[in-house]
Amino acid sequence: MELADIGELNQQISTCSKCSLGLTRTNAVVGEGDLSASVMFIGEAPGANEDAQGRPFCGKAGAQLDELLGHAGLKREEVFIGNILKCRPPKNRNPQSDEIIACTPYLDQQIERIRPSIICCLGNFATSYILKKFGLEAKVQGITKIHGSVFIAPASYGRVKIMPMFHPAVITYDMNKKSILAKDFLHLKNIPK
Ligand code: URA
Repeated sequence: MELADIGELNQQISTCSKCSLGLTRTNAVVGEGDLSASVMFIGEAPGANEDAQGRPFCGKAGAQLDELLGHAGLKREEVFIGNILKCRPPKNRNPQSDEIIACTPYLDQQIERIRPSIICCLGNFATSYILKKFGLEAKVQGITKIHGSVFIAPASYGRVKIMPMFHPAVITYDMNKKSILAKDFLHLKNIPK
């Protein structure tokens, strides 16, 4: 894969019109964090706050994520936080497959550049995309079943550990998931990076 310069890649994402979400977004959300992070988090898509600010996980789900990062002994600045889709789907509907196909080459480029040793997939969309991308299609199951598991796959730059987790937004409508997420983040803390 020919790697675009990061500034150029961010520019391509910010001005992208490869799917119709480019027509309704306020800001594309490129992702943020350490470009040489060993842990990368991948969410689903920007919500209203992220669309307004152009930053990932800056709304309610972001506050949950910040708290969970603490359980893993991590700070936002030392990880990279991105999304499957870079633009907000109207009314926060689920990403559509044509949008995922159009947008994920940007995520692929980010992964190639960051070369994370652990990819934490937040929710079903990220889990399914990442497991398939790394040849683990047969392992794809709903997040309720596979959260907290660690899958090891070959990457172009070595090997990558893939850890599916519930999406932090789940806590806002199901408080019982908070302790499950906390446990998975504690598990993450103990995985060699
Ligand atoms: N939910 C996501 O999946 N990503 C964000 O950036 C914010 C909320």
